[in-house]
Amino acid sequence: MPKYTSRIESLPEYPLANIPIQKRALIARGVDVIDLGAGDADLSPPEVVLQRLADASRIPSMSRYGFGMGLMDFREAIVRWMQRRFGVSFDPVKEIVPLIGSKEGISHLALAFVSKGDVTIVPDPGYNSYVGGTLLAEGEPYRVALRPENNFLVELDDIPSSVLKRARILYLNYPNNPTSAIAPRDYLERTVKRCKELDLVLVYDNAYSELAFDGYVPPSIFEIEGARDVAIEFHSMSKTYNMTGWRCGWAAGRQELTSALAKVKSFIDTGTFLAIQAAAAAALDSAEEFIPGNVAVFKERRDAAVAAFTANGFPCATPKATMYLWLPLPANVPSAVFAEKLMQEEGVIVMAGALLGKGGEGFFRVSFITSPERISEAAVRAGRVLKRLTAQAA
Ligand SMILES: Cc1ncc(COP(=O)(O)O)c(C=O)c1O
Repeated sequence: MPKYTSRIESLPEYPLANIPIQKRALIARGVDVIDLGAGDADLSPPEVVLQRLADASRIPSMSRYGFGMGLMDFREAIVRWMQRRFGVSFDPVKEIVPLIGSKEGISHLALAFVSKGDVTIVPDPGYNSYVGGTLLAEGEPYRVALRPENNFLVELDDIPSSVLKRARILYLNYPNNPTSAIAPRDYLERTVKRCKELDLVLVYDNAYSELAFDGYVPPSIFEIEGARDVAIEFHSMSKTYNMTGWRCGWAAGRQELTSALAKVKSFIDTGTFLAIQAAAAAALDSAEEFIPGNVAVFKERRDAAVAAFTANGFPCATPKATMYLWLPLPANVPSAVFAEKLMQEEGVIVMAGALLGKGGEGFFRVSFITSPERISEAAVRAGRVLKRLTAQAA
């Protein structure tokens, strides 16, 4: 057996990778499983999207290679939507990169900007592609703990200057997975300014920009002065349009940043199925009709989750965005132990905070991916496990 590279040896296990196997085993045992693990809702994409995919799939040219350019209609729909939604304009050919889901682009970006020994600054807990992309590029992730005490924000000025000197990328994700935190505008302003001073690429992961409640409207980083110079922003069709499995997203930014990502990708992939890009264009063009109703469904789930988890021993604030609750555990209950017991004893799947990074210890994440009734039932079961664990620890 040939030796693995140090690159692959450095990768941790991907969280939730083993969950489908464990879930099948539980179902085979007759357990009534409630899965609140992945950010992967049980809802349908917009009807216009399904229709457009069906129609487009019958056009022979749609079955040809998309290559990096992909479907011009998709690029133009992206640019139209970003203009309507954020008031920012982009060149559809030079400043947009169509992606096979935003995860793909986020992971590959480090190959363009990180050399062996360079540092990237990653939120901890955080989406695993920041660490994964960095390690695959033989860079060193510098993890910044997101804690309630710092409002779950990454403050560059709290990082030692010896680290900042070697840093190439700052990854930010607000609205945030897993903590549901949002970033105040003055935070974004000072961070953009510091990235410019430090010559950092600001990777702004905006996967949850459209999943917000109670009048909160998440911004694009490009609404912030100076962001064009430093930022590349990632968007996803997955959460906004219930299209997680379709694998479609994009990156936007100035040409010097986007062309480097496009070049890496030109040696790795040949683009998402063009009919899916056509359907994604239809989704973006009908965003204003579809999104409010879809957000209302998530809001109902969020409200049920907050009420039920609070009532069962997990008091929490009501998140203004995302599809997650980030729930604290008592100090003597490790998150992995809690999540494992909850799955094995009660058939409820959640994400242990520690799986998303050491900074996530002491918390677990619940996703609003099933009905309010099932989420409430999961909270009752979680409350029973908490009682048993705290009784044992006492
Ligand atoms: C913060 C964040 N970024 C990016 C993604 C990737 O989304 P996709 O690859 O489906 O576009 C996810 C998915 O869970 C996420 O939570």
